[in-house]
Amino acid sequence: MDLHSTFPGVMDLKWRAKRRLPRFVWEYLDSGTGTEATKARNRKALDSLGFLPAILKGPQAPDLSATLLGRRFPLPFGIAPIGMSGLIWPGAEALLARAASEAGIPYTLSTVAAQNPEDITQHLGENAWFQLYPPKKPEIRTDLLARARAAGFTTLVLTADVPVASRRERQTRSGLTQPPRLTPRILAQIATRPAWALGMAARREMPRMRTLDRYIESNSNLPPTAHIGYLLRTSPDMEYVKWLRDHWDGPFIVKGVLRTEDAELLERLGIDGLWVSNHAGRQFDGAPGAIEALPALRAATRLPLLFDSGIEGGLDILRALALGADFVMLGRAFHFALAALGPRGPAHLIDILAKDMAANMGQMGVKTLADLPAPIPVAPAASD
Ligand code: LAC
Repeated sequence: MDLHSTFPGVMDLKWRAKRRLPRFVWEYLDSGTGTEATKARNRKALDSLGFLPAILKGPQAPDLSATLLGRRFPLPFGIAPIGMSGLIWPGAEALLARAASEAGIPYTLSTVAAQNPEDITQHLGENAWFQLYPPKKPEIRTDLLARARAAGFTTLVLTADVPVASRRERQTRSGLTQPPRLTPRILAQIATRPAWALGMAARREMPRMRTLDRYIESNSNLPPTAHIGYLLRTSPDMEYVKWLRDHWDGPFIVKGVLRTEDAELLERLGIDGLWVSNHAGRQFDGAPGAIEALPALRAATRLPLLFDSGIEGGLDILRALALGADFVMLGRAFHFALAALGPRGPAHLIDILAKDMAANMGQMGVKTLADLPAPIPVAPAASD
């Protein structure tokens, strides 16, 4: 079966994912925080960026390659970290790492994924990135960096935009707990989603944030159900960033940058790349659409800029690149792909995005990403 005839776009993967995931898992993946105004703003602001189509440009065969941190990539996008990704689909981390490696694009493993860095080593390609939620204790911090390095992760990404937990009301309403517990309510949700239930049953235990397991054991006065978040200092400061800079000998990216002051300071600290993001609307419902912050950040720093938050297709990737991003990352979309199609999902999504980019570049008569024109304001699509 040609997947493109059944699932031609990211939306097809999203709708199928919603039908195949238990409600609490869907809510974890899809939700924002508050009234989800920021999440909606991400979409609206992207939709407000248009381009004038160009005509009479002759045959079109766009080159989609991009350079980031001194490396040439065949495609200008990669896989963003998602916490508990193994809850969304069994074995998500290995499946995503392998798909990224085969396509030659970056894969980012989250500190709070459901898999240990060392347990997916054999699936990693050359562009494996490790996302860090900052541990409080220096010995845990040092150990995590050493583990990531030994497992084959080359690039460190510090997520800095979770200074406090966000409220995530939709997740709470769904009955999701951390770690996920099989309450009667959750079991009732699982019972209606056989594909997910069978996949999880084969693994014989509920996914949890495994990377931190070994540190919990050394704090044995805590109950086993204690949320492992206590191990993490979610609110790092610039001193912490400096420490990481001194202790990680590869590329170091800070994620969650929206203010130009922060970008300038981070550039002075010797950070290699800034990841522009509003955490896809999951942290702060007062934030602008992440894409709205991009032009000022581009003007404020010479550092490479990565971008995420609300990317739902090839045209969105082009919008971000046209506004000055060097690279684009997608988290939710890759997990929609997994939930919709299992192991075939990530490669199919990569193909959708590449085809979509090429089609849109053709409309603009643009041969390389460096030639993208500046976007023009257009009316956003009516919201549904
Ligand atoms: C989240 C955290 C884990 O957005 O990054 O759920």
